[in-house]
Amino acid sequence: MLVLGIESTCDETSCAVVADGKQILSNVVSSQIDLHEPFGGVVPELACRRHVDILLPILQESLRQANVTLPEIDLIAVAHGPGLIGALLIGLNAAKSLALALNKPFIGINHIEAHLYAAMMSQQELAPFPYLGVVISGGHTALIKIHNLGEYELLGQTVDDAIGEAFDKVAKMLNLPYPGGPQIEQLARLGNPSSYPFKPGKIKGRPLDFSFSGLKTKVLYTLKGQNLRNGEQTPPLSLQEQRNLAASFQYAALTDIVEKTLKAAEQHQCRTILFGGGVSNNQALRHLFAQASPATQYYWPGPGLSLDNAAMIAGLGFHQYHRQGKSDPYHLEALTRIAL
Ligand code: KG4
Ligand code: ZN
Repeated sequence: MLVLGIESTCDETSCAVVADGKQILSNVVSSQIDLHEPFGGVVPELACRRHVDILLPILQESLRQANVTLPEIDLIAVAHGPGLIGALLIGLNAAKSLALALNKPFIGINHIEAHLYAAMMSQQELAPFPYLGVVISGGHTALIKIHNLGEYELLGQTVDDAIGEAFDKVAKMLNLPYPGGPQIEQLARLGNPSSYPFKPGKIKGRPLDFSFSGLKTKVLYTLKGQNLRNGEQTPPLSLQEQRNLAASFQYAALTDIVEKTLKAAEQHQCRTILFGGGVSNNQALRHLFAQASPATQYYWPGPGLSLDNAAMIAGLGFHQYHRQGKSDPYHLEALTRIAL
């Protein structure tokens, strides 16, 4: 079964063709980093306009790379949330139009669920359920027990900033380009993680929830304290001080993820932990997990599957269609928030 996937929830426009939920024939992703970089974050109106301009060329390229034509597609899957409303509408309406014009079945996919599926898609064989799913992206931070595909239980989530958002904001404070996560990771490589005693947030009575806004503010005050004395500007941080700050922030944020994830996996008897979302690209995180619990089985998304992409949408679309049938293109709405 050939599934065309369409993804436009935030600042990546992507189309993919996937066979039988697993075999990726094409996965074309156009990032808007150049567009948003001058603003230090995603500007929703600009994101929508770029999606409009680029979606059809990306669709054509994904078909060309997969060497298939539209009539050969069996199902059209689209991320209909969560995301930026205007951005979602572009992909959703393109998918609906294609489905109606070509008389093909159509299905709406939850972007977060697809991030979790991306790690499963990357495995040759799957271990038995349940898994602990860890979504760590620019918009979400959540621990989810995966009883089966389509059966999820939310165990914990952030009460304020998402982890990727915290990386991006700290990077902005250090005048690093957007998106900040990879920049912080690179800067932190030569830094000392115990230079600054940063601590991530704890939420009373909710041991599996996250809070990153206090940590981010602590970084800001540390920077201000360095730069402003008696109202006067002091010289900016030296490169080594910046490296130490980035390393200390990264260490605090990532060890929080590691500790709460392993606690949840133990409490909920999940022997396999799988990851989704852009922050799962971080090599320091992978190293910390391997060190903290070497016996645990980890499923990391394969190349091109951790950041937003349409292959994960098409892949999950295949399974969801077999499980619960198609969506109605006349009624499916774009949703800025969707619970799993
Ligand atoms: O999954 P994604 O493409 O978008 C959302 O659905 O949000 O994730 C993007 C986020 C950004 O915040 C980016 O800074 C972060 O993932 N990110 C990283 C790394 N690579 C991407 N954060 C830390 N370390 C990285 N290597
Ligand atoms: Zn995402």
